[in-house]
Amino acid sequence: MQEFKSIFKWMEGQRLKVVGALMATAFGIVFSTLIPLVSQTAIDMVIKQTTEGNPTFISDIVLSVSSFKGQLLMCGALIMIFTVINALFNFLKAKWSAEASENLAKNLKDKMYHHIQQLSFMYHKRVETGDLIQRCTSDIDTIRLFLSSQLVEMGYAVLIFIIIFSFMLSLNVKFALVSVCLTPVLFGFCFIFFKKVKQSFKEADESEARLSTTLQENLTGVRVVRAYCNQEYEIKQFEKRNQELKEKSYVMTKLNALFWSSSDFLSFLQIAVVIIYGAYITIKGEITLGTLQAFISYESMIIWPVRQLGRVLTDLGKTTISVKRINEVLNEPIEFEEGLQKPQITGSIEFDHVGFEYEDHDRILKDISFKVEKGQTIAIIGRTGSGKTTLMNLLLRLYDYTEGSIKIDGVELKKIDHKWMRAHIGAVLQELFLYSKTIKQNIAIAKKDAHEDEIQSVAKLASVHHVIEDFENGYDTIVGERGVTLSGGQKQRVGIARALINECPILIFDDSLSAVDTETDIEIRRALNERSKDVTTFIIAHRVSTVKDADQIIVLDKGHIIQRGTHEELIHQEGLYQTFWEIQNQKEAEVLNLMNEESGV
Ligand SMILES: Nc1ncnc2c1ncn2[C@@H]1O[C@H](COP(=O)(O)OP(=O)(O)O)[C@@H](O)[C@H]1O
Ligand SMILES: [Mg+2]
Repeated sequence: MQEFKSIFKWMEGQRLKVVGALMATAFGIVFSTLIPLVSQTAIDMVIKQTTEGNPTFISDIVLSVSSFKGQLLMCGALIMIFTVINALFNFLKAKWSAEASENLAKNLKDKMYHHIQQLSFMYHKRVETGDLIQRCTSDIDTIRLFLSSQLVEMGYAVLIFIIIFSFMLSLNVKFALVSVCLTPVLFGFCFIFFKKVKQSFKEADESEARLSTTLQENLTGVRVVRAYCNQEYEIKQFEKRNQELKEKSYVMTKLNALFWSSSDFLSFLQIAVVIIYGAYITIKGEITLGTLQAFISYESMIIWPVRQLGRVLTDLGKTTISVKRINEVLNEPIEFEEGLQKPQITGSIEFDHVGFEYEDHDRILKDISFKVEKGQTIAIIGRTGSGKTTLMNLLLRLYDYTEGSIKIDGVELKKIDHKWMRAHIGAVLQELFLYSKTIKQNIAIAKKDAHEDEIQSVAKLASVHHVIEDFENGYDTIVGERGVTLSGGQKQRVGIARALINECPILIFDDSLSAVDTETDIEIRRALNERSKDVTTFIIAHRVSTVKDADQIIVLDKGHIIQRGTHEELIHQEGLYQTFWEIQNQKEAEVLNLMNEESGV
């Protein structure tokens, strides 16, 4: 029931249309039920000239014409008028229910999208993207269908049954009762059957979802598939899932065939009962030929909607599931707390005994304390998995620290408005994402109205300007799936340009120079130093050469700070930093040697 309350709530602004559609349905039915009455009059009173039968207001109209020919013509005209009016109401019904359902689907999609934008990063990490997409598309579509067809169909079936049954009762009570004697059986049969079929529907649905996932992963991971010659395996996987779907669909089709044939049998049986019983009482003289004809018409008008109703009722199950799935998203609390501050952010940062763990994981960060003054450069170095990215995610409030405190310019981070905080940080994330848009648009994400000159100047700082200039379309080159593919290093540099477009007091470079060569690395850092004198900069790197000029260097290992100091201090200390330094120096020396040998020096 909760689900219908939700649908009712979402119908806001559309309720009048839905009511209109239901009313149009009712009027349409009334006019279509009048048609058999016209033929009844035509048979009994015009052709057979009997006066007993059942006089109705139709017969009054028809008999008000004097000639036989005129009466017949009047019958024909009435049938035409009723048919046209019925068609008109049918049109209104379809129009209004379509408008209401399309509007509801659109509004609901907007509402979902809006809500999803405000959910925390943590939520997005937790849920499966595919599932979320499913909720925004096919689940909403299920509700749209409910409103556009099932609700009206249900209303239609109930109304047509009530209206026609009362017409039948007014014609002949006993015959009316005989005419619906099998209806409860038919209805019950449909209901029970579709309950059974639902399970098989669900299995086929899930099977289809698995097939799509296989396809999607294969296409997304096309490079890995090719590189590891995994095509054979992928084809086998696909064939397996495809076979599975075929079998599940086959079961469903078989069940459906069984259902339609049995329910057809029941429906025709009911019609046969009406014809046989009706013929019997007509011969006995209890009803007229015209009434029999009207009953037969009515019977076929109600029997099919009743059969449909059983199906619609079970489809309702699907609708309730979809509503539940949508509500799960909409009820997720958004990333917003009241009373958050928007303090001035200049870039002095203090971590004080900060600890953090992901849900169901060991503690990833333990007892992290350090202080950065405004304008300082702080480098964090450590093995992969040591927690460097996590540390920066805490600063960006993508996750909330579970222990200790982080203060920005003396204000507790958790008290600062999320958006406000993030607007003051220019971050080049490790998992860099570029939209399938132009390079210009990708750089100007945080500043949509950025001027060409500004874009070019940050691209120059990031040492990527000349690369972009070399493209045929320059800054209007489209990147990503629809356009050119940038190399890892080029992508990183576009990412850096993007982070620089707003002059933020805090900059974060998370492994952002890993894919550029040492020379470009130095060039970029030199340019940054000049421009960002007052900017607090976090540099996360593997390369000692990248971090060695930092004001302070923190060495992170398994979530702990194990060393800290300047480059000079650290290379003279026994520990991880020294090891890094020695290995990397050695490698550089080896490379130099190799190059010398090759050039024959
Ligand atoms: N979303 C997540 N959920 C659970 N564990 C995670 C998540 N992201 C990272 N981790 C774990 O946290 C640890 C630190 O990861 P990360 O901060 O990315 O390290 P680094 O950036 O130093 O390579 C790793 O052991 C990683 O497996
Ligand atoms: Mg990382």
